[in-house]
Amino acid sequence: MLTQSIVANPTYEFAADVRAGLTKPQQKELLSKYLYDDIGSALFEVISFLPEYGLTRADERLLRRHARDIVELLPTPVAVAELGSGSGKKTRWILEALCRRQRTSYYPIEISPTALAMCARELGDIDSISIVGFEREYLDGLLEVAAQRRHGQHLLVLFLGSTIGNFDRPAGVSFLREVRRILAPGDAMLLGTDLEKSSAQLSAAYDDQLGVTAAFNLNLLARINRELAADFDLSQFKHVARINQEARSVEMHLRSTRQQTVTIPGAELLVEFLEDETIWTESSHKYSAEEVVQIARDAGFLCRAQWIDEEWPFAESLLIAE
Ligand code: AVJ
Repeated sequence: MLTQSIVANPTYEFAADVRAGLTKPQQKELLSKYLYDDIGSALFEVISFLPEYGLTRADERLLRRHARDIVELLPTPVAVAELGSGSGKKTRWILEALCRRQRTSYYPIEISPTALAMCARELGDIDSISIVGFEREYLDGLLEVAAQRRHGQHLLVLFLGSTIGNFDRPAGVSFLREVRRILAPGDAMLLGTDLEKSSAQLSAAYDDQLGVTAAFNLNLLARINRELAADFDLSQFKHVARINQEARSVEMHLRSTRQQTVTIPGAELLVEFLEDETIWTESSHKYSAEEVVQIARDAGFLCRAQWIDEEWPFAESLLIAE
């Protein structure tokens, strides 16, 4: 096993993004990628075990059951890049199936150094694998991976766990288009998308009984307290999961239970909240299986095959760059 990490430059992006998001004149917002510091990532891991939240287990089930079929449809030789590897747990099945066929380079791309380290530890025992992590934003990392590829070597991009759902629909297609531009014809992308389900199921999944999702959401304010020396009183904000029928998404918000002022010295900011005003922290868009085929086509991919979980509607789509 080879493990190394290409590390990002330290930046003040977090402070700048918090400032931009909390000074928006209408709806205040915080970018969902900031939910995933070490505590947020650990809480998300717990969410993936909750009975109400079947998304991650459906994703894992499909990858475990169909790893061989998926690998058989890939171009050869192929290196694997993963956008947002997380712990790497569900990637094991694909990598094992591939490594039985060829020596495989695996490039997890992650903004969380902890997740990168975990994923190298989790997958490093696979025979014939070499792991090189990139501590980068998705497209920056993918550009670097693509620049390093050897002549004749194809790429498989893994974009699992319905992370694409965090984009609104137009932004989702643009993102796929950006990925497509970095790829060569014949390269592949395996895209995991959560499928539409009832409002009752979605409300339960995003506002679970134990309150883990609430903690996951509130941790973003705690993170701002920790990293930017802010004074958010967490007891004065409530987690809200809101179904947006029109957008076919679930939105997470943090609702201020009273009028209050918060100071965020690390972002040189003083923020006023009205009673019941919310900060929008995440959207999770739900797709239909046919719609995935369509957006893939719009972005320059052909959907070669699709696998759907019956227990928790979720799709893996194998897309080939045209
Ligand atoms: C990891 C982005 C797929 O949108 O379902 C889980 C994150 N948010 N519970 C999702 C999440 C609230 C999750 N994704």
